[in-house]
Amino acid sequence: MEAIAINTDKLTWHAACRVEDIPQDGGACALIDGRQIAIFNFARRGEWYATDNECPHRQQMAIGRGMIGSQGEEPKVACPFHKRTFSLKTGHCLNDDGYRINTFPVKVEQGVVFVGV
Ligand code: FES
Repeated sequence: MEAIAINTDKLTWHAACRVEDIPQDGGACALIDGRQIAIFNFARRGEWYATDNECPHRQQMAIGRGMIGSQGEEPKVACPFHKRTFSLKTGHCLNDDGYRINTFPVKVEQGVVFVGV
């Protein structure tokens, strides 16, 4: 399943982990190209997302441990430290305009989670 449709011409897909490595309706962190990427299995919505693991507020490597949920139709993750909340689709901070994280496309094939970087 591909969670986000984007132009894949400039992407490299990285096999990050297996589906069972990420808790349902939760996240975990993978090291991809030397970069910490948070991967989320949003099982309630049947969607997968990937973002920077680093929160830009105080540079904590914590986003992968954040609570996920929805704000209207928008899937979101809250940093566990000071609750800055980011859209899992766009990376924009929903409760503080000054912050943003990168998002990455995810696809799952034969039980393997791939992240496009
Ligand atoms: S470090 Fe993430 S909200 Fe402060």
